[in-house]
Amino acid sequence: MNTVLVGAQWGDEGKGKVIDFLTEEADVVVRFQGGSNAGHTVVVGDKKYVLHLVPSGILHNGKHCVIGNGVVMDPFDLMRELEQVESWGFELKGRFHISERAHMVMQWHRALDKAEEAARPEGEKIGTTGRGIGPAYAAKVGRFGMRVGDILRPDFADLVRKQVAEANRKLVGLGAQPLDAEEMVRLYAPMVAALMPYVTDTIQFLHENLEAKRSLLFEGAQATMLDIDFGTYPFVTSSNPTAGGACTGTGVSPRAIDRVIGVLKLYTTRVGEGPFPTELLDADGETLRQRGGEFGATTGRPRRCGWFDAVIARYAQRVNGVDFWAMTKLDVLDAFPVVKICTGYRREDGFVYTTFPADLEVLSHCTPVYEELPGWQCETSKVTDYAALPENAKAYVNRILDLVGGKLGVLSVGPARETTLRIGI
Ligand code: GDP
Ligand code: IMO
Ligand code: MG
Repeated sequence: MNTVLVGAQWGDEGKGKVIDFLTEEADVVVRFQGGSNAGHTVVVGDKKYVLHLVPSGILHNGKHCVIGNGVVMDPFDLMRELEQVESWGFELKGRFHISERAHMVMQWHRALDKAEEAARPEGEKIGTTGRGIGPAYAAKVGRFGMRVGDILRPDFADLVRKQVAEANRKLVGLGAQPLDAEEMVRLYAPMVAALMPYVTDTIQFLHENLEAKRSLLFEGAQATMLDIDFGTYPFVTSSNPTAGGACTGTGVSPRAIDRVIGVLKLYTTRVGEGPFPTELLDADGETLRQRGGEFGATTGRPRRCGWFDAVIARYAQRVNGVDFWAMTKLDVLDAFPVVKICTGYRREDGFVYTTFPADLEVLSHCTPVYEELPGWQCETSKVTDYAALPENAKAYVNRILDLVGGKLGVLSVGPARETTLRIGI
């Protein structure tokens, strides 16, 4: 059984937690896009683990974890994270693999990310994580990127000098400090020894596993509405976090994928700039933020919070072909006397959009259309069986399923591993 898991909203749906849960029955967990802009949290007992580049399956000794060709990897972020994983007591040798085709996020990509963001006028800022993701993917698509395998080239130092010179022209143009090329050459020299033990032909590795009928689990980072093609462009990330990205980002064919699981938070959050039709700027939004601990796992920024948006969830169901939903954070809604679901966006002239418009200008003239349902106002985080949930909570979940399609596979009622109910999968 090969499973693709994707985020259905604007990220931070609880993908890390669900991957950790599903790793029990997988053999290989594979990241296929994004980089250290991701922050995936897994809570086991009283210990909280946050992973950025390393697949969340790493917390299960014995399972293989792969960084696929579609990822952009900052070697310094990775080395720091690998040290951390080892300090937590998990083995890496022989079970952690990096694609030689993955592109690297270099120091100058990070500098450019920050300089480009600073140069954008108010209203055009994206609110990036500052991890160099956009410039690294721009270099990849522009065909002047740096792949992991390049680190072994005899002319690697010259390549660094050339790239720094090019980046410096842009940095100076943006009014930022240029970088010292020789310092960069020195900085990256030890990377060969540090990274090489993990670098391999992951396409070959994954296909050997497929032939041996082992189960692959594809861990999406970011989410559908942050997708470069399907998201709220230009307020998006620079990769394809949707299900198709699992194939292009790993070299595994779509025909090998058996099911797609979408992770859906039972309300909505967003970090960074860009449209968010159901955003709450009132006390309800603050209640969601506090109860849900909605502060970025990577940047610590407070997340914007709002009611559940069925328009984007249905869109995510279609774009990804979601078979099963992993719905998360039901417990956060326990406090509300009324819970709301957005079913459309109403234009000033009364027209209601029930699909997500490509032109973001449209959204600025719309208000959300809400359906109100009675809350349940009792604690759900101790519930271990779906049937035992309050009737109003089940009615809320079922109404969402009616509106968005797909089946319920997993329901999460707390951050910890144990607070996960297996339903239809
Ligand atoms: P990811 O990026 O999709 O992996 O999600 P993050 O880790 O960035 O954010 C999800 C946050 O919600 C983390 O702090 C999780 O520990 C937490 N979380 C996940 N599922 C639940 C849940 O069902 N209830 C509550 N209260 N917290 C949850
Ligand atoms: P996980 O995997 C939430 C957002 C940033 C910004 C936009 C572009 O934890 O769900 P980037 O640094 O990628 O160029 O920033 O995308 N963003 C995320 N938001 N969760 C994430 O990852 C995100 N990764 C990027 O806040 O708005
Ligand atoms: Mg996150």
